[in-house]
Amino acid sequence: MKHITNQWKKRSAIIFLVSFIICMILWTLSMSEWAATINTQPVQVHDKPDLSALMMTILPFVKVAVLTLIPALLCLAVMRIIEFIANHRHSKSMMTNQKPTLSPSPITLQCIERIDETHDTVTFIFKAPAVNYISGQHILLLVNINQKIYRRAYSLSSPPSRPTTWAITVKRVQGGLISNYLVDQFLPNMLIQAISPTGQFNLSECKTDEHYLFISAGSGITPQMSMTRYLLDMSAQSNIQFIYFARTVDDLIFGKELERLAKHYENMTLSIVLSEQPSAGYRTGLLNKILFDELVPDLTKRAVFTCGPGPFMSILQECLESRDFDMNYFHKESFGQLQDCSEGSQSTSLFTVSVPDYAQSIEVDGFMTLLDALEELNVPINQDCRSGVCGACKCKVIKGEVQGNSKNGLTEDDLSQGYVLACSTHIRSDVEVMLV
Ligand code: FES
Repeated sequence: MKHITNQWKKRSAIIFLVSFIICMILWTLSMSEWAATINTQPVQVHDKPDLSALMMTILPFVKVAVLTLIPALLCLAVMRIIEFIANHRHSKSMMTNQKPTLSPSPITLQCIERIDETHDTVTFIFKAPAVNYISGQHILLLVNINQKIYRRAYSLSSPPSRPTTWAITVKRVQGGLISNYLVDQFLPNMLIQAISPTGQFNLSECKTDEHYLFISAGSGITPQMSMTRYLLDMSAQSNIQFIYFARTVDDLIFGKELERLAKHYENMTLSIVLSEQPSAGYRTGLLNKILFDELVPDLTKRAVFTCGPGPFMSILQECLESRDFDMNYFHKESFGQLQDCSEGSQSTSLFTVSVPDYAQSIEVDGFMTLLDALEELNVPINQDCRSGVCGACKCKVIKGEVQGNSKNGLTEDDLSQGYVLACSTHIRSDVEVMLV
């Protein structure tokens, strides 16, 4: 609509210009007419002022003024009317839009290799499509299982500095539909649909000579692996501190590669911490303030990137705040937490989802997300990532019990008022929902 308004503004400006040129011609003609009038009148020195002669003198100027002003005012009026109509139509379409879909068209990825990283984690390498991305971003896989399309976000673990391939690294989630399908059944040469890389968790705002702290847990390592590979590939002068928490030595994703990189690059330091089972050569423990202060004595000039389960990232946030860290340099991603919960926690009970403002209700089981239920109702709920990342599906649960797996972008105030992200929320009782 803005595009149409601009088009009309351009047209009005052209009309104005043409009118102005015509007026200038008329003005020139009038001036010559006036000059002729003056020249033909006899000079009468002591006569009283002649009113009709005065009118003859002024008239050409009045003509020009009127002829210039009228088209200009007309153009302005046309512009205002068009703007008003355009704005009115725009707001009407915003109000009546039933299912806004922001996702771009899917791309097809062909798997060319799979690498077993650990007993439950596999990296899938794809032939790179002609699409750019920024290190840290994720793609949305559209996985067809039993004729139903499931969407799941996975960070790219490959760096954009290696443009021929893309990679995602998938960890099996107990009971998880998508991760189990990929790990057990997805093989080289198979094709899969995906939505192009997106996400605010990326290196775009950082300079390559900045200092970084990458701190992750479990499968949250994947976007940080992309960032580290990218920065080292680019021979950046950046200083990278990489801290990785895994449960046991067998759960270390990219363990060997990380150790090799830390040995090879002077500007990278690596700390691996095992949280469950000690092993020779590794630290053991859980993230807390004492351990954090010990691992990161100097936060000067560092941008901090984290990805992992929610409680892990909350503890990190507290550690940073206790050090008066400028939180503008704190970036977090929440896929690990999201995928683990969204795939594992489902219920077979039947519940009613109602949207009183639209006088709609439906009976659903606990396998459905709140977003699926609202879409079944055909009420105007926004959606984009369907992975609890973009915040588009924010709505308010005014009655009933739900289980939310992502709080991305929701403030404490939002949460206390019952706001949730519908795409990552499961229904646990009869609920009433208000759309925003
Ligand atoms: S659709 Fe993006 S957070 Fe729900």
